[in-house]
Amino acid sequence: MIFGRDKSVIGIDVGSSSIKLVGLKKSKGLYSLEFFQIAPLEPETIVDGTIVSKDNVIDKLREMIVHNAIKSKSISTSVSGHSVIMKKFSYPYMTQDELEEQIQWEIEQYIPFDREDVYYDVKIIDSMSMTNEAGKMEVILVAAKKEVVNEYTDLFSEAGLKPMIMDVDAFAIENMFQLNYPGYENDIVALVNIGATITNVNILENGASAFTRDINIGGNLYTSEIQKQMNVSQEQAESLKLGGDFGAPMETTEAVIPQEVGGIIRSVSESITSEIQRSLDFYVASSAKGRVSRVFLMGGSSKIPSLANVIETKLELPVEVVNPFKEIEINQNKFNFEQIQEVAPSAAVAVGLAMRELGD
Ligand SMILES: Nc1ncnc2c1ncn2[C@@H]1O[C@H](COP(=O)(O)OP(=O)(O)OP(=O)(O)O)[C@@H](O)[C@H]1O
Ligand SMILES: [Mg+2]
Repeated sequence: MIFGRDKSVIGIDVGSSSIKLVGLKKSKGLYSLEFFQIAPLEPETIVDGTIVSKDNVIDKLREMIVHNAIKSKSISTSVSGHSVIMKKFSYPYMTQDELEEQIQWEIEQYIPFDREDVYYDVKIIDSMSMTNEAGKMEVILVAAKKEVVNEYTDLFSEAGLKPMIMDVDAFAIENMFQLNYPGYENDIVALVNIGATITNVNILENGASAFTRDINIGGNLYTSEIQKQMNVSQEQAESLKLGGDFGAPMETTEAVIPQEVGGIIRSVSESITSEIQRSLDFYVASSAKGRVSRVFLMGGSSKIPSLANVIETKLELPVEVVNPFKEIEINQNKFNFEQIQEVAPSAAVAVGLAMRELGD
């Protein structure tokens, strides 16, 4: 732990399509933006959650530090996907020592990796909260494979950064949400982060995480389906998805393209929605304390114009795209406000990471 005066850390979210960097300044309880950058990674740098090209990531991180003239090197970052396991337990009230003993047992029981191979942490959800019966305490156990965590920390160290806090995407998103969307403390809401390869579903009951799941599906599916069905290159498929121009001329007539693309996009949106639905159904069947009342979307793929509509229609729930900077002051002399709003949903995890403080 570090007892410096400045407890702030830079939030860095290494996604498979880009690295997001966010720095926040907290003064009198209010946040303002200090650093912000989204730097695209070359395709194939991270595949299936594994960093294939370490050098690409390290180079990019170094560039980002220089570009933003970052002096303090303390960062918080996160892991997600199949190397992380989260599980919620409900116990009668117990002391810290008893809890520690209990957790050791749960790890043996529920974590499919050897105990020596994981880092773990427990988070006690307020035992007095309204969701709990009196005298009960709810605990979330998070275990992450040491191998994966170490790979990330080594990488940051090599880039000249000090990884001080290792979070998980779901909790970072929860913190970001609590800052920007107060007023949902008495509701059940689903936070859905749709990236390029992973979709994190995190259901909050009365402001606390009750169910989390990482699904291996994301915006890359739109691109690969367009590529396959229209027989175009990956770059062309990506720009068709984004509605941009197509670069090299294509054989198909322009009039047909938007329609065909629209159809593919719609059917992929339906597949993604089915996966989200499956998670919500699983939550309802297993542990629900009521009905989900609203879906909050984030991640780069929440920018797909029709996705929110498809989810809204199929799940019969109101859907809102999250702005992680909603309650964060952005100095318009220093930042391009419109540009930031444009890419904001991608920064959901990084904003949550930047809200962490040394020693917490
Ligand atoms: N305007 C847009 N319209 C449609 N899709 C978009 C848009 N902007 C970004 N995307 C898509 O969002 C995805 C990237 O989102 P995000 O930055 O949240 O992912 P990531 O964090 O890099 O990936 P992951 O977390 O899955 O490893 C890509 O598939 C990209 O094509
Ligand atoms: Mg991501």
